[in-house]
Amino acid sequence: MEKPFAERTQEKMKEVLMDPSAAGPAIHYYMIRGGKEKLNITTLETGAVGGEYIKTYGHYHVFDFKETYQIIHGHGLVLLQIRNKDADGKFLDDEIASFRAIEVVPGDVVEIPPFAGHLLVNTGATWLVTSDDSVFESASDSSSMPKHADYEAVKKMQGFAYYVVEKDGKPAFVKNEKYASVPVAEIVNAKVKTQNAKL
Ligand SMILES: [Fe+2]
Repeated sequence: MEKPFAERTQEKMKEVLMDPSAAGPAIHYYMIRGGKEKLNITTLETGAVGGEYIKTYGHYHVFDFKETYQIIHGHGLVLLQIRNKDADGKFLDDEIASFRAIEVVPGDVVEIPPFAGHLLVNTGATWLVTSDDSVFESASDSSSMPKHADYEAVKKMQGFAYYVVEKDGKPAFVKNEKYASVPVAEIVNAKVKTQNAKL
């Protein structure tokens, strides 16, 4: 039985940071895994590393399932990016078809579109705390890197298509030059999105 909690260290986050050599907290965020029934809790540290706000590593799902995030505490962004596919229907990890940043506050609900890469950014002055209902099989799964998630496609691109940095006290986007094609980042409000989705 795996322990149902884990921490994401600076050492691991260096794989996806805009500036891997920048100083930062030893632990960037904390995870408690309860799966679909008990839910999973993520708590993000405050601050920035090399100008980039503290964020989660980011992943794609390896199979299609519905995942819903609820914001419990704090202020942040949910980043969503959808990849292009090649002629055989295989995802192209360096080509992004759409990129959205959803501003979130407590009470907001964000549904992750099928196969959209997703990560959380803490842009506030307090812990950012979320719950989600992604799969966790406590008997055999990893609390740190659960089996339903593909982290490698993010690792090889050194993060998502944009890094979120603090500029004049507000979030700003810096394009990740490792990607071959990236659309303009679209910033949306969670309430608009959830109304549109009729949640
Ligand atoms: Fe997920």
